[in-house]
Amino acid sequence: MNLGFLASHRGSNMQAVVAACRAGALAANPVVLICNNRSAEALARAEAQGVTAVVLNAATHPDPDMLDSAMLEILQRHGCDVIVLAGFMKKIGPRVLAAYADRIINIHPSLLPKHGGRGMYGRAVHEAVLTAGDHVTGVTVHLVNAEYDEGRILAQGEVPVRPGDTVDALAARVLAQEHAFLVGTLQRIADGRLKIG
Ligand code: GRF
Repeated sequence: MNLGFLASHRGSNMQAVVAACRAGALAANPVVLICNNRSAEALARAEAQGVTAVVLNAATHPDPDMLDSAMLEILQRHGCDVIVLAGFMKKIGPRVLAAYADRIINIHPSLLPKHGGRGMYGRAVHEAVLTAGDHVTGVTVHLVNAEYDEGRILAQGEVPVRPGDTVDALAARVLAQEHAFLVGTLQRIADGRLKIG
């Protein structure tokens, strides 16, 4: 299973998945990172782990349709079977969506459908959890469609909210779960226990 990654910022989920592949804990090959942000930490992480990284964005491709085509061409040229959105802040274009229907997965730091949708990323998610007074939050891995955070849910894991939690404390606890959870879910896809596509 060849994995392509799309990331915009930190890239810690991508790094965890690549590390698991390298360690033999995940039966998959990381083949390429496409990043829309030239100064993303994800680019340095990919380089450090020997993963080819490409920057594609509105500066390299001002026409959204050309950008979509360029992204698809790179994913296909590298033989990607599954695309992992690891903190990717843009919508996926229709060409990539069609070519990889039900083979694009995203990880979201809450128990969707709670605290998802447009604008719900980063600290905003954990702020919403605390404001709502939830006692439990978690991690969701889901398929990607044309709407933010709305594709079929593949797996969810719970993370406790502790009394006195700050956004930072909660974010760190959830992120630690995300890494293991994403690797585990990809392994279930790789060995056929979890069917996608
Ligand atoms: C993660 O919290 C993920 O759930 C969300 O974006 C964040 C990305 O973090 N989609 P990182 O870039 O993988 O460190």
